[in-house]
Amino acid sequence: MGIKILGTGSFLPPTAVTNDMLAERIDTNDEWIRSRTGIGSRHFADGETNLSMATIAANEAIQTAGIDKAEIKLVIFATLTADNFTPSMACLIQRDLALPEDILAFDLNAACSGFVYSLITARALLQGSGGAALIIGAEVISRIIDFTDRSTCILFGDGAGAAVIKADETKEFFFSTGARGDDEALASPSAMLNENPFVRREAEEPAFLKMAGSDVFRFAVECSAKSITEVLNKAGVQASEIDYFVLHQANERIIASAAKKLKVPIGKFPMNIDKTGNTSAASIPILLDEMNKANKLKEGAKVVIAGFGGGLTYGAIYLTV
Ligand code: COA
Repeated sequence: MGIKILGTGSFLPPTAVTNDMLAERIDTNDEWIRSRTGIGSRHFADGETNLSMATIAANEAIQTAGIDKAEIKLVIFATLTADNFTPSMACLIQRDLALPEDILAFDLNAACSGFVYSLITARALLQGSGGAALIIGAEVISRIIDFTDRSTCILFGDGAGAAVIKADETKEFFFSTGARGDDEALASPSAMLNENPFVRREAEEPAFLKMAGSDVFRFAVECSAKSITEVLNKAGVQASEIDYFVLHQANERIIASAAKKLKVPIGKFPMNIDKTGNTSAASIPILLDEMNKANKLKEGAKVVIAGFGGGLTYGAIYLTV
């Protein structure tokens, strides 16, 4: 049982920040950022919220899917930068898009693997149902960036992407996932303080993203190649048969290293990191939407989707479009 991607949508906030603009405020330069990451600019929310960006992307996905909203029975919202702990972002999407109430709606946090984890979860929940699912990845990651840390603040950007899918037994779908609990390599501490009149007040720490860049780099190359190899073995498909490898847009060099390990030409790895930076859970659905608009998600195409990131988490999906 596979899935049919009925529609896609995305949104990038209009405020674009180039490497040169960053270099005016922090000790960095365009050449360093481009050569180490492939990033030229990124977008930062300026008044937009996670919900407002997701709503635009989700509306577009529903419109391009051409379905009645009443068909949507599942909303999964992948994010690590939700506007609220509760209500969940998925519930607010149900309200703001006037989706039916007989729905299962929840947020999922698997950091940059969030969209991959969500697609796998949605496909499982849709089995045997005629309903559709709305899967969203959206981040205001600029909220948790430490702009005094030049090795991480240059990497990330904000945005939202969405897809509407249905179960489809004529399509193929295999997956391979992993989780390696680790709060040293990549972590964003809780914004919640254990503060009440009966306990000692904890020292306040800013809730910024912290990352050991080279450890995460090695993990990303190792686990993206590993999960892709595993999923292709499960599917009995050769890497050379794949039309597109849609990888989480974290770093052009991570993608190039994975391509080299898999012995696949880099041209089969679509990229938009040059203008988005790493948008965490939003990166894969934004890229899928761009591919859809460029008419690349053709019926029967063989696609691998792979994510990796905080948790640590990773996962790969092989599917036929
Ligand atoms: N501009 C200029 N110089 C910088 C810099 C910046 N923005 N950030 C770091 N540097 C400097 C360092 O201070 C260091 O200088 P030194 O040699 O004088 O000490 C030098 O560049 C090398 O730093 P290093 O951290 O070893 O660079 P790197 O080649 O490992 O690249 C990352 C750093 C963050 C780009 C890289 O490790 C990476 O991409 N990691 C994966 C991150 C990621 O994708 N995370 C999300 C996963 S979902």
